[in-house]
Amino acid sequence: MRDFIYNIPTKVYFGKDQLHHLGEELKRFGKRVLLTYGGGSIKRTGLYDRVVNEINKAGLELYELSGIEPNPRVSSVNAGAALCKEHDIDVILAVGGGSVIDASKFMAAGRFYDGDCWDFHGKKVPIEKALPLVTVLTISATGSEMDTGGVITNPETHQKLGRAADILRPAVSFLDPTNTYTVSRYQTACGSADILSHIMETYFSREKGMYLTDTAMVGLMKTVIKFAPIACEEPENYDARSNLMWASSWGINGFIRIDKGPNPWICHPIEHELSAFYDITHGLGLAIVTPRWMRHVLSEETLDRFVEFGIEVWEIDYNLPKMEIALEAIRCLEDFFYKDLGLTSNLTDLGITDEYFDIMAERVSNYSGEPRYTDLSKQDVLDILNACL
Ligand code: NZQ
Ligand code: ZN
Repeated sequence: MRDFIYNIPTKVYFGKDQLHHLGEELKRFGKRVLLTYGGGSIKRTGLYDRVVNEINKAGLELYELSGIEPNPRVSSVNAGAALCKEHDIDVILAVGGGSVIDASKFMAAGRFYDGDCWDFHGKKVPIEKALPLVTVLTISATGSEMDTGGVITNPETHQKLGRAADILRPAVSFLDPTNTYTVSRYQTACGSADILSHIMETYFSREKGMYLTDTAMVGLMKTVIKFAPIACEEPENYDARSNLMWASSWGINGFIRIDKGPNPWICHPIEHELSAFYDITHGLGLAIVTPRWMRHVLSEETLDRFVEFGIEVWEIDYNLPKMEIALEAIRCLEDFFYKDLGLTSNLTDLGITDEYFDIMAERVSNYSGEPRYTDLSKQDVLDILNACL
């Protein structure tokens, strides 16, 4: 087990009756608030009115940026950063899902940067200063409400890139499961696939890690597997929505990989290429890629982790031969994604061909950093992508 620093300072207000704390929390950071949101779901659900009411009650100055896209574009980030500079904003309030929160993180940093915000991703310019960020989460998926990262798309270059910095972690997040009651069945399924993927990306790591975090990951995965289908069938099931919401935050806030070092991910970079070229929903891409990646890397060398995954997560009979357990575990995961959650199982049905696979595989295999669970050559990535068709 590695040495580690525990520092996950996001203050969380969890539950149905917490929004009245919003004004007091925003006030801690100043007077001028930039409210950011997406394509309008918060207006349809009434959340916008409730948030604005709290801001008015607190006597704060309100500025707005709407229309942040799913798979948020760098143009939205630049627009937000410009507003922050123009109005000398004190705090950003992101109300929405991962896309709104991610974009807001880089607006917060862009407030102090005199250039194109794409530089944070494209050129990896240092991120040392950022405005404080408060979030009101409306969909359980990315964990952006409690983590340090964000993923931005540049449609001109067909790139979708992640970047993390401690200073981007939200200062305060309001997690009210009832705000996710209106999330569609499809987005609930995609978001749940994303949560599960974040945990699996960490679980399938080269580092042995410790029993405590390994067991926590099993609990988190079982939570998603149990409650995602319920939330799809019964959108207003509070138990299901709240378990998914808390799992989303803890799947990626740093706790489960605290003893595992940088822990580079595998399926996410492949999915980000698909989203960059085809603008597909992130969780759907992961649901298609992950089982193919698993089948590709399953070998005598990787077998034991798959066996643990099968026995502990899917409760497969431990008396079976090891390879049978591993293959059955992958089959269970496929059934979960494609039957229980009803997600599309292949890229062809999404109209995707192998046209850009070469460049996608080139980019993913050019990764340099900590070793992944299994090293992937360009040909490996190509094989995985072709298996997704
Ligand atoms: O834009 P609006 O109108 O709000 O509609 C959204 C959007 O169409 C809708 N929605 C959200 N809450 C709703 C709702 N509809 C009805 N009722 C509600 N309560 O859902 C759609 C998807 O929203 P989005 O924010 O895009 O979803 P998600 O939270 O899954 O975010 C996906 C983005 O986050 C990135 C993904 O790559 C993708 O760009 N990720 C961010 C990560 C992070 N920060 O750590 C990690 C992830 O791995 C991921 O890459
Ligand atoms: Zn993800």
